[in-house]
Amino acid sequence: MGDNRAPVTVIGLGLMGQALAAAFLKGGHPTTVWNRSAGKAEQLVKDGAVLAATPAEAVAASELLIVCLSTYENMDSVLEGQDEALKGKILVNLTSGSSDQARATAERFAGLGVTYLDGAIMITPPGIGAESSVLFYAGDEEVFKAHEATLKLLGGNTTYLGTDHGLPALYDVSLLGLMWGTLNAFLHGVAVVGTANVEAKAFLPWAHGWLDAIKGFTADYANQIDLGDGKFVPTDATLETHLEALKHLVHESEHLGVDAELPRYSQNLMEKMIEQGHAKNSYAAMVKAFQKPSA
Ligand SMILES: NC(=O)c1ccc[n+]([C@@H]2O[C@H](COP(=O)([O-])OP(=O)(O)OC[C@H]3O[C@@H](n4cnc5c(N)ncnc54)[C@H](OP(=O)(O)O)[C@@H]3O)[C@@H](O)[C@H]2O)c1
Repeated sequence: MGDNRAPVTVIGLGLMGQALAAAFLKGGHPTTVWNRSAGKAEQLVKDGAVLAATPAEAVAASELLIVCLSTYENMDSVLEGQDEALKGKILVNLTSGSSDQARATAERFAGLGVTYLDGAIMITPPGIGAESSVLFYAGDEEVFKAHEATLKLLGGNTTYLGTDHGLPALYDVSLLGLMWGTLNAFLHGVAVVGTANVEAKAFLPWAHGWLDAIKGFTADYANQIDLGDGKFVPTDATLETHLEALKHLVHESEHLGVDAELPRYSQNLMEKMIEQGHAKNSYAAMVKAFQKPSA
């Protein structure tokens, strides 16, 4: 197995790097691995991986290099002194970082003759290899396409976002922000109904149904925002109607002794936007509270 598949090197064998290397092995790719703590390669080596003794050996072993370390700074230190060896390689960086770091890294590698793809993994290690798992990539489209089948071993929903290397990081944090915002609102709701001895499990099906409804609202709002005419015509409820409902949540929270900071934050934002003339607009107008003033 693996004779006709392109060799892959995985640098970084934390929880995620081990899962990535295992997926390449499973897909039949000759896989070379390197990690600062070599012990983490033990199972992979049993499964057929080759353990490189140094980062230089790891870089030399394959044209396609996958890096997954804790930070970009650690990637720089691991690859220090490898500029010549990296020339002509394809480096796919799945380390989480900022869009600035991704763009600066792409520029630096371009200067070294390295083709750089930046990526973001939207799944935890057990999800690596699953059909529904999402991984984002950006960089040279032809290079991405040439290696798409190999990268798809990591997740069926492997998506190319474009040539701007900063995009995976921006999608990554924006989706994580959506997760934390939603989770906090869910947990706040659990706390509110919990004051009446309602179990979280009883609240759950209503929360799930409500999340589906919210998906519908966001589809409408995305259209209104992208129209760019600043009209935000309400098809469901105006911002002032939202504000009145929200005040009940603030009141209930304060009255019941549940932390009210989260709904109060929303109240402040809504009042600010209403002061700016958006009372009769849809909730989508709230995007103005978040956007850069020039947007
Ligand atoms: N785990 C997830 O669910 C998940 C999901 C999406 C994205 N990611 C991203 O994937 C990346 C790796 O995450 P992980 O979960 O694998 O983290 P992890 O288990 O903590 O592994 C961190 C990796 O970085 C290496 N490292 C740390 N400091 C280093 C240094 N100074 N020099 C050389 N190597 C160093 C570690 O080497 P040692 O083994 O020697 O310590 C290890 O290979 C992160 O950027 C993370 O945000 C993770």
